[in-house]
Amino acid sequence: MKSVILDVDTGIDDAMAIVYAARSPELELVGLTTCFGNIPVQDATRNSLLMLEKLGVQAPVAEGAAVTFRRGEKEDYARHVHGQDGLGGIVDKEPAGHKADVSAADFIIEQVKKRPHELTIIAVGPLTNIALALEKAPEIVPLIAELVIMGGAVYVRGNVSPYAEANIKSDPEAAKYVLHSGVKTTLVGLDVTMKTLLPHAQLEHWRASDNPLGPYLAQMTDFYMACYEGFQPGIGGCPLHDPLAVGIAIDSSFAQYEDVQVDVVTEGEKDGQTVANPEGTTKIRVCVGVENERFLDHFLNRMV
Ligand code: RIB
Ligand code: CA
Repeated sequence: MKSVILDVDTGIDDAMAIVYAARSPELELVGLTTCFGNIPVQDATRNSLLMLEKLGVQAPVAEGAAVTFRRGEKEDYARHVHGQDGLGGIVDKEPAGHKADVSAADFIIEQVKKRPHELTIIAVGPLTNIALALEKAPEIVPLIAELVIMGGAVYVRGNVSPYAEANIKSDPEAAKYVLHSGVKTTLVGLDVTMKTLLPHAQLEHWRASDNPLGPYLAQMTDFYMACYEGFQPGIGGCPLHDPLAVGIAIDSSFAQYEDVQVDVVTEGEKDGQTVANPEGTTKIRVCVGVENERFLDHFLNRMV
């Protein structure tokens, strides 16, 4: 069993990733850490607590960064993709549970030191919490078993600009700090996540499920699905960005890789771009291919 912390900016695909991780016996969900990104961090915390409540899972939720690593307040959120509340408009109550009394960065440091060489961090939002933890306690760099990041667009176009993917663009300095930290890292970028689409037809299966989680997932995903249909008419589905990072943490054979240093552009028109640097020596594992059908089967078999 692999112990994991899931660092999220709970939006809709983050919520799916939480369900997938919680329902995968290969993983021990040590806790969630939340970050601004799709929505303000307070909403990400609320949504994460609500998802754990829906799942009947007890796990700490440590709230993290409200602003970026070096640039202060993030300018805008992705409410057009994830809805005003971050979960496609389905939030109808406050969670019963409360966030932990520790910051995300301190929770990460504490748990890595408690589980040296055994803790995997799956980061599916901006990398601010990870950067803050590594800056505060650089001694944890060699102790993290693996950092699996949903982020970047190395050999493909970005999604929030022609060059940049949303999680990196939300905090380029944090991404640069983390990708050059020396932590054993796998980068799950748009290069592969745009090949793992949840088919529109799946929503009907979830809606018809006897498990109440099914209709809940379908209702939130309606919003996300409609958004991607608007971006790309005829796409027929929505990308499972964050769930794929969880899938690769469970079974790395879902993807093919290239080991290369990845640099991050931190200014100008290409701000947030992730660029392969073959001359670099701080190599990370970049996903360059994915067995999308096999991953999708695995994901759907776990969800409801
Ligand atoms: O670019 C996709 C990523 O940005 C996903 O993690 C999504 O949840 C948003 O955070
Ligand atoms: Ca996310």
